[in-house]
Amino acid sequence: MKAIDLKEVYLKFFESKGHKRIPSSSLIPENDPTVLFTTAGMHPLVPFLMGEKHPLGTRLTSVQKCLRTGDIDEVGDEVHHTFFEMLGNWSLGDYFKKESIEFSFEFLTKVLKIDISRLAVTCFEGDEDAQKDMEAFNAWKSLGISEDRIAFLPKKDNWWGPAGDSGPCGPDTEIFYWASSLDVPKVYDPKDKRWVEIWNNVFMQYNKSKDGVFTLLQQKNVDTGLGVERVSALLQGFSDNYLTERFKPIIDLVCDLSNKKYEDYKKEMRIVADHIRSSVFVLGDPRGISPSNVDQGYILRRFIRRVIRVLYLLDVKDSVLSLLASKVIDIYGVEYPELNERKEFILNEIKLEEEKFSKTLVVGTREFERIAENMIKFNQKVFTKAFLLFSTYGFPLEMTKEMAMEKGLEVDVDKFNKEMEKHQELSRVGAEKKFKGGLSDSSEITTKYHSATHILGEALRRVLDKNIVQKGSNITPERLRFDFNFNRKLTDEEKKAIEDEVNRVISLGLEVDKKEMKLDEALNSGAQAEFGNRYPEVVSVYSMGDYSKEICMGPHVDNVSKLGHFRILKEESSASGIRRIKAILE
Ligand code: SER
Repeated sequence: MKAIDLKEVYLKFFESKGHKRIPSSSLIPENDPTVLFTTAGMHPLVPFLMGEKHPLGTRLTSVQKCLRTGDIDEVGDEVHHTFFEMLGNWSLGDYFKKESIEFSFEFLTKVLKIDISRLAVTCFEGDEDAQKDMEAFNAWKSLGISEDRIAFLPKKDNWWGPAGDSGPCGPDTEIFYWASSLDVPKVYDPKDKRWVEIWNNVFMQYNKSKDGVFTLLQQKNVDTGLGVERVSALLQGFSDNYLTERFKPIIDLVCDLSNKKYEDYKKEMRIVADHIRSSVFVLGDPRGISPSNVDQGYILRRFIRRVIRVLYLLDVKDSVLSLLASKVIDIYGVEYPELNERKEFILNEIKLEEEKFSKTLVVGTREFERIAENMIKFNQKVFTKAFLLFSTYGFPLEMTKEMAMEKGLEVDVDKFNKEMEKHQELSRVGAEKKFKGGLSDSSEITTKYHSATHILGEALRRVLDKNIVQKGSNITPERLRFDFNFNRKLTDEEKKAIEDEVNRVISLGLEVDKKEMKLDEALNSGAQAEFGNRYPEVVSVYSMGDYSKEICMGPHVDNVSKLGHFRILKEESSASGIRRIKAILE
């Protein structure tokens, strides 16, 4: 079954079980200081898993765009990707283990018609935090899965989350499919890689605090995730995801451009196909960003530069990235109209980055080879010039590491980091740390910054120009950052007037009110909506007295008087026609 069909069949099935479809959220989470990208379908649902009421009810289903760099070193094999699409269904305090397992089983065996003899499952074996999951075990057994095909495994295998160091999590049950053409063994062996994981049902009942303590959540949730690429490939009889319609046209193009065969260069061609797809989705997101040396922009830069280098290794030295990117847009444009809407931006940014890097790749590689050969001659193993390659030739650390590894050398990462920190206020290390960090931080201070952001947006409209809209927002526990359309620098008087306006509103002590309504009703009522965002049919609208009204997921303070004093730290240009304000509450 092709990916596009699998997605529809899945959503329809869960709709028939009372679930409401929610649109994919942005790949780039907003107002979340702890992660750079959306890494799972549950990510946009964190406040609702924690107990907040979702406007569409307690049963939800979606196809979420996800991006993970944790597996980047595995990309090149048959099944790993950085960008991928995740199917998911959620119970927010509604059904629990038994029904969730029954839904999954019915979907796999009745809808996808997978033979039960090809399935095996794992359940949590229990420890001091949660007991052995007999409930899941019994549910599987009663559906006809034999005990030989059920394994109990420890936390490292059968516990999901939190995605970072804190947040919702719980034991899970994972479903495996026998992907080999050889006979299915009677007994399931968790170490046998021919059993491929296809679905993860997480029973999210716990919250893990930053200091590692597990407490019960207000409600028992279910969070499941099923990888579109993998399941669709298996249903088409491929063990290699890159042979499906999602990747084949890209691989074919790389074969044509390089005059080489896929069989001979599978790893390289898969990296190209994977990374160009991720780059297009990051650039093409409604909140898409450009390559840079920090945060998401740095990850994007790494993807694009790695593609250029790998193509170079395949002897493709011409400028071909826009051709490859266009192919990705052709494949996904119907399902993700934002890619077509932002096509010019995507192709332009890719071309600029290609022009910038192609120039230095050749000289930088020569420099690397020279240093590496000298080291090998003198039997040295630790490569210390990664920062030089970064600062002079724009080689991302990871690329130098990869090149060093190919020569049997190891990069001195500490030295690189020290030199980098000296060089930059916002170092790459910070970005990586942040990327590995936790889920949506709903702490008191970030909640306050979130509410202050709404007031600031309205204050800008009232003080500067009524056509101002939010073009981007980012919140950390230290400050808020707000991007908006305006085409010149603000004067000191204007900045002061904006500060005064925000502080005036704070002193009014307005109540913050949340209402759920149909999307068109919300838009007709004049609620602000973020440009380019796709919303579900029913949305939450947050109002602060009569002052501001915005479609938003929350959370917010209950009264604006809690915000304290607002002060602008900096006003600067963010992109052409876009200004950026950084401000604090004190
Ligand atoms: N959150 C779980 C996962 O990512 C299930 O969706 O695997």
